[in-house]
Amino acid sequence: MSRRDAELVALDGPHGVARLKGVMGRFVTGVTVVTALEDGVPVGFTCQSFVPLSLSPPLVALASAKTSTSWPRMAASGSFCVNVLGRDQVDLAEAFAVSGGDKFAGVAWGRAATGAPVLEGAVAYVDCSLVVAHDAGDHELVVGRVVDTGWREAPPLVYYRGRYTGLGEHAAP
Ligand SMILES: Cc1cc2nc3c(=O)[nH]c(=O)nc-3n(C[C@H](O)[C@H](O)[C@H](O)COP(=O)(O)O)c2cc1C
Repeated sequence: MSRRDAELVALDGPHGVARLKGVMGRFVTGVTVVTALEDGVPVGFTCQSFVPLSLSPPLVALASAKTSTSWPRMAASGSFCVNVLGRDQVDLAEAFAVSGGDKFAGVAWGRAATGAPVLEGAVAYVDCSLVVAHDAGDHELVVGRVVDTGWREAPPLVYYRGRYTGLGEHAAP
């Protein structure tokens, strides 16, 4: 086995997971809440793996953990909406990072074109019809076609090294 292979195998255990979290945490992302309306019931989960994919046709992607209880319901609905959170929406990020319960209790929201919830105060939303969900390790790689969008001028919430921060702010070490 070459040294390179040995390193790859080492990344596949518990130490590898910690190492991967450490290194991936150096990649700065925004924070979103992905939502859908399944049989009239709003569902959603906090998601940082959102990525713009294609301009023509307009496609986006995100990774959904196979442990997610919301994603199968979203997939069944055939559409989802990516809500980009503002700097002052840490409470929403935390509330939607919990599995189960009524995450929408006390949350103001409207409907995008697909019917999926647009969270009040979101900096932007990207409403999508589901194109495909590829198997990808312990996640599914989800691709959606953009059908509706909106935004407002407000500072975004930023996620860096496992902490919430904002643009131009220093995340605690
Ligand atoms: C900042 C942050 C980013 C997250 N990003 C993702 C993500 O990209 N994909 C994912 O599946 N879960 C992500 N999670 C975890 C889910 O929000 C969490 O597992 C949630 O409980 C899933 O809820 P559900 O069971 O209702 O789907 C993230 C959590 C936080 C706090």
